[in-house]
Amino acid sequence: MTAAPSPSCDRVVELTTDQLRARLPEALRIYVTAMGYPPVTAQQRAPMWSAHMLRAGWRCIGAFNDDDELTGIGYGYLGAPGQWWHEQVRRGLQETGGDADAWLEDYFELTELHVHPSAQGAGLGEEILRRLLDGAPGSKVLLSTPEGPTRAWKLYQRVGFQDVLRNYNFTGDPRPFAVLGRPLPL
Ligand SMILES: CC(C)(COP(=O)(O)OP(=O)(O)OC[C@H]1O[C@@H](n2cnc3c(N)ncnc32)[C@H](O)[C@@H]1OP(=O)(O)O)[C@@H](O)C(=O)NCCC(=O)NCCS
Repeated sequence: MTAAPSPSCDRVVELTTDQLRARLPEALRIYVTAMGYPPVTAQQRAPMWSAHMLRAGWRCIGAFNDDDELTGIGYGYLGAPGQWWHEQVRRGLQETGGDADAWLEDYFELTELHVHPSAQGAGLGEEILRRLLDGAPGSKVLLSTPEGPTRAWKLYQRVGFQDVLRNYNFTGDPRPFAVLGRPLPL
């Protein structure tokens, strides 16, 4: 791990697959706490996060406090045809007349970005996002986030993401989502 200063004073470092595996229960606890999901969701998501680690271009950034507790986590990988999210976004772009071929070629999917509520509001999410995308593969980055005036929404606007899809319904989730994207590097 290589440490770097962050606005929040937490240690923000790149994690290998082994390092995230060792911290997976902790990382999933941050995810469910930040998203307000029930604790059982953490166990349900563990196999998916483990499978994502094996995808091409996978890259992960973690933040740690002085007690070496994980306070934030972000990861992503190169999106590719056949992946569930890729095919969902392709369907949305085709239905709305968007340029699916342009957006869905050579992109980094920012899959997860979460900061523990006790560490939010100090610039840590932006630090993790910038570190994750600094050196990420792909000529662009895409993500999805629930619609609404959230802190995540403000962060993505601040770093120049643009609308790719709005009020989109992913299969199996009643909430409207936005798919946002921008060229890389930031
Ligand atoms: C989205 C999320 C990752 C953003 O992380 P964050 O650390 O809370 O947010 P940011 O890094 O953008 O920091 C934003 C705040 O820090 C402040 N800030 C920025 N730089 C700062 C600095 N150097 N020093 C102190 N404060 C700073 C900003 O003013 C801003 O405050 P505000 O939101 O009250 O106006 C986090 O809020 C989160 O986990 N949310 C729930 C889960 C979620 O929605 N994840 C994204 C799913 S797509």
